[in-house]
Amino acid sequence: MAYSDKVLDHYENPRNVGSLDKNDPQVGTGMVGAPACGDVMKLMIKVNDSGIIEDAKFKTYGCGSAIASSSLVTEWLKGRTIEEAYAIKNSEIAEELALPPVKIHCSVLAEDAIKAAVADIKAKQAAKENA
Ligand code: FES
Repeated sequence: MAYSDKVLDHYENPRNVGSLDKNDPQVGTGMVGAPACGDVMKLMIKVNDSGIIEDAKFKTYGCGSAIASSSLVTEWLKGRTIEEAYAIKNSEIAEELALPPVKIHCSVLAEDAIKAAVADIKAKQAAKENA
């Protein structure tokens, strides 16, 4: 199956690969797996006091489309609020990367990872407020 140029670009030069400090109270982690193929994606975001995402890193054990989806969203996330991040749809990712139908679930994985990372940072913020 042929990958689009954008998928190949992100696959060959993935942006923001790595981790952030998971013990940092301003870092949220989203770890999700795709039941369809077993691929796993970990996304970490660092959120400042204004609710803006300052940094994002990912590690993806998966196909080229999953790696490209996670690389792309780390670029999109920086500078957005966590609400804006939460609103990112897998269809936007699939459209940007021109993913074929069999690879749509790879972009769903990226959307799920964002939602999980946002949920994690919100839980950390709530725990801090209740402390
Ligand atoms: Fe499953 Fe891409 S084939 S995440």
